[in-house]
Amino acid sequence: MTLSKKPYKGTRDFFPEEKRIRDYMFSKMKETAELFAYESYDGPLLEEVELYKAKSGEELINDQIYSFNDRGERFVAIRPEMTPTVARMVAQVHREVSKPIRWYSIPNLYRYERPQKGRLREHWQFNVDVFGAPEVLGELEIIQLGIKLMQSFGANSNHFEILINDRAIVDKVFKELLKCSEDECYKLYKLVDRSKKLDKEKFTTQINETTLNDEAKLIFNEYLALNSIESLKNFLTKNSIDEKSIELISLDEKLKDLGLSDYVVFDPTIVRGLDYYTGIVFEIFDKNPENRRAICGGGSYANILKIFNEPSLPGVGFGLGDVTLKDFLKTHNLLPDFSSPKVDIILTTQDETGLNSLLNLAHSLRSNGISVFTQLEPLKIKKVFTLADKKGASFAALLGTQEIQDGLVQIKNLSTKDQKEFKIDSIDEIKGYLA
Ligand code: HAM
Repeated sequence: MTLSKKPYKGTRDFFPEEKRIRDYMFSKMKETAELFAYESYDGPLLEEVELYKAKSGEELINDQIYSFNDRGERFVAIRPEMTPTVARMVAQVHREVSKPIRWYSIPNLYRYERPQKGRLREHWQFNVDVFGAPEVLGELEIIQLGIKLMQSFGANSNHFEILINDRAIVDKVFKELLKCSEDECYKLYKLVDRSKKLDKEKFTTQINETTLNDEAKLIFNEYLALNSIESLKNFLTKNSIDEKSIELISLDEKLKDLGLSDYVVFDPTIVRGLDYYTGIVFEIFDKNPENRRAICGGGSYANILKIFNEPSLPGVGFGLGDVTLKDFLKTHNLLPDFSSPKVDIILTTQDETGLNSLLNLAHSLRSNGISVFTQLEPLKIKKVFTLADKKGASFAALLGTQEIQDGLVQIKNLSTKDQKEFKIDSIDEIKGYLA
């Protein structure tokens, strides 16, 4: 049997160019999280399936989880998301640490999905979560952080938008106005969550299959047609729901004060597929119609610590995937050129006897913090520059027969084309030229 060279379905090999892109995206994530004083954490790749059964929702458990019995008969899963892990970790320490707890991580996650654009079986997900922040301020900070991250890639409100809703509103509409039972509410949530993926006809058929009467259907459709905070406010007033009980309204005011309201759009169909969310929920979407997928999803979840028998500590956070982020950056031409690596200098010799000098020079330069690519076999001068270009070098050093005899080296600045001769052991001078 010949073994396949391809990676397992829905996973990726990261060859150096792809890995440079990933490193670039991760470095922006790390920088942004640390700009907001979030601390880095990590957890295990395997967790007990029970952890996800508690609050993640049926789609994840029934269709997407990679699970198996280990040799000790424990039923375990490869992590499909990070929120239950971070909640489990916070549950261990929340009594001892000052609030709010602000943490971030970039785990790889596995979900058994049909691989397609924006969806794979393994992806990396930037997670930021804050626990124990005062009402609305956690949500505000998390959304600010999301916007800052997108801006760090050069994106602005022409490129992306944040679609936002509040489960408190949806709960009130479903329970108080539509008079749904818990069970019916759950089914409606799932239906609303799928609404953008279903065509209109299918969606109507599925609504007709619910227990909603004609009056309830009218209110439901009226709710689904809301498209701005203003229209939401009118809807709340008309149905005697107190605006003050809705956090989204005060969040909207705070976003306006910070000049960020251009980024945020009320969308009644955003409810999120995971079950633990309790309040404000949001997704970041690419505005390009060719790439209409959520780049990021998150929201607030007040009760997750209760599954560990701990008092509730409100959490807010989001997860932003590397696959969708890269698609977004590509669509908008926001990815720098990573086709070649970067190195300060390439060292070449044109004569076999130069190898020792080349190795010594490389050793001294590296000891001075200069990155060096060494060409270990003699190379003709005309080939040096093509190689230097491929390796992304800023400078090229030439050790020809004459230079070796005289203890010299020629160094060329590849962007200005300036070339200078140095004594091979004058490291400080060489360092100054490369700076
Ligand atoms: P999620 O909406 O399931 O939320 O995932 C968040 C983001 O991860 C998605 O918007 C997408 O960019 C990416 N993503 C999810 N599944 C895949 C996949 N199969 N392939 C590629 N990318 C994917 C959560 O996971 C929540 N735990 C996020 C969170 C953190 N909420 C609060 N804190």
